[in-house]
Amino acid sequence: MKNLKIKTFSEYQKQYEFSVSNPELFWDGVASTFMWKKKWENTLTWNFEEPRVSWFEGATLNITENIFERNLATKKNDLALIWEANEPLAANRTYTYEELYHAVNQCANGLKSLGVTKGDRVCIYLPMVPELTIAVLACARIGAIHSVVFAGFSATSLADRIIDADARLVITSDGLNRGAKQMSLKDVVDEAVAHTACIQNVLVLKVTDTNCSMTETRDIWWHELIPSQDIICPATEMESEDSLFILYTSGSTGKPKGVVHTCGGYMVYTAYTFMNVYQYEEGDIHWCTADIGWITGHSYIVYGPLLCGATTVMFEGIPTYPNAGRFWEIVEKYKVTQFLTAPTAIRSLMAFGEEPVQKYDLSTLKIIGTVGEPINEEAWHWYQNNVGKGTCPVVDNWWQTETGGIMISGIGGISPQKPTFAGYPLPGIQPVLLNQDGEEILENEQEGYLCMKAPWPSIIRTTYGNHARCKEAYFSNFEGYYFTGDGAKRDENGMYRIIGRIDDVINVSGHRFGTAEIENAINQNELIIESAVVGYPHPIKGQSIYAFVVCDHTLSDLDDARKDILNTVTNEIGKIALPEKIQFVSGLPKTRSGKIMRRILRKVAEGDLDNLGDVSTLLDPSVVDEIVKNRI
Ligand code: WTA
Repeated sequence: MKNLKIKTFSEYQKQYEFSVSNPELFWDGVASTFMWKKKWENTLTWNFEEPRVSWFEGATLNITENIFERNLATKKNDLALIWEANEPLAANRTYTYEELYHAVNQCANGLKSLGVTKGDRVCIYLPMVPELTIAVLACARIGAIHSVVFAGFSATSLADRIIDADARLVITSDGLNRGAKQMSLKDVVDEAVAHTACIQNVLVLKVTDTNCSMTETRDIWWHELIPSQDIICPATEMESEDSLFILYTSGSTGKPKGVVHTCGGYMVYTAYTFMNVYQYEEGDIHWCTADIGWITGHSYIVYGPLLCGATTVMFEGIPTYPNAGRFWEIVEKYKVTQFLTAPTAIRSLMAFGEEPVQKYDLSTLKIIGTVGEPINEEAWHWYQNNVGKGTCPVVDNWWQTETGGIMISGIGGISPQKPTFAGYPLPGIQPVLLNQDGEEILENEQEGYLCMKAPWPSIIRTTYGNHARCKEAYFSNFEGYYFTGDGAKRDENGMYRIIGRIDDVINVSGHRFGTAEIENAINQNELIIESAVVGYPHPIKGQSIYAFVVCDHTLSDLDDARKDILNTVTNEIGKIALPEKIQFVSGLPKTRSGKIMRRILRKVAEGDLDNLGDVSTLLDPSVVDEIVKNRI
């Protein structure tokens, strides 16, 4: 794959031109650098109507053979994984490629002994410990479909995901360490599993020193099952289009959807984008601070770096524990060369000033990245000046759970960078901006709906168990296009700037929530008649959640009601989805046909009271006055 590494901007332009005029030839070239058990017959067949996209049809492979067998000859003793514990003084753990290979095989054999076979769904609900990476790869080794659920989701959310995927096994831990806190995870799993009929076993890793209860015959300790397994496990032969994993993400309607990615295309695209965007070179130490519970962790902690033979860093803790210098201490400790984090983390560390950054030697850094939400100009400059010392290129990676890999981004040090602009599309990616009528906007400096006009190898294939939903959410807003849900602008040079979601998705600290999902949670509370949730700008989190709630008018103690709402959201989704502001209102602004006018609520939440627009068509315009008057 090395000869596909873009080294100059004109090379990028050439590769880009070629990739869009001859996509099949281009991706043939990239794919042929991997290890396939059988070669493909068709590089690509697709239509966006069904939708149906198929890459490298007829080929077979196993992605873990491409991480291990393909790299072992030259990388056996190189570090694959460095794990930094929550406590700075606790021992770290490292795995060479060979050690990780054996650990993955042992776990894979353990899963097999529990009866897990190709195509089975395995839910992984673990903190950021090496066994999370190991479990993910063990599933891939035997063709089981992993569904990682971020360990901050509640029992209800976990149960929903387990049931939707019809998983047979949960892999979890007794608890987790996060900053100064230890939290139980097993209790959450027990509660979730009690509401499911499909789970046969729970595999439990010991991470903390808390006690947890084990259900006989169902629950198995990791340390009793895995370490005694054989260190070799043959890789299961997978079709290119067999599912590799499911990852749940929020959309504008209903419950989170299980985005499905497949083996061949996802492998080719994550490795290709990792190598180029981060300009991977032998010996590089790549640290992405995301959690593997999100797509960024899947693609740029686990699969992308390991496919390329890089060393990937995993961190158990949080940026501010035990102090705001922790990230930089880790960069210095491991001589990190590529660092990727979210704007939220940058903004929260900015608040501590420059001193914690200046204390550490960050001179090993070559490229720094930002991902997950739009980055404001101030944070961009702070990041480049203080972390990148004014010289490191900043790559702003725009992409989505559904896209599998980075789509629009700078290529470290090679393409021009412009603060707040993600930049140019990567080779193979064909973005367009559409207007309301679905026509392509050809001139620059205009805002439009960001869509893709052709498939790339790691495009979403389906939403698990419900293909109609996939079509509805992504392929029916604009016929013949994949719709991202984002608004964007292009400058005079063709660089893209992402403005943010234009649907009912809120991005809080880089975490996606659907407003409907939070409203449903709030409405679970018996005292609530109805609610409407919108996002509003927040200086650190990017966006925060504002809930307008209509509750039973007999309710006398609003403080209790507020607490109840917070409890319900915590139980239904998790603390990460808590509304920052809850305003009790006597009614919501609705059209005569009963539709909630969110536009008005958004303006109120943003404090943009002079631009509420026309309220005369509302069923009861007076509710707006009341809402404005009592705005928080
Ligand atoms: C937003 C995360 C601006 C966007 C990889 C997208 C961004 C959603 C950026 C996907 C960026 C992600 N600049 N906005 N660099 N990266 N987004 O699925 O709104 O968790 O649609 O994937 O995050 O979030 P997801």
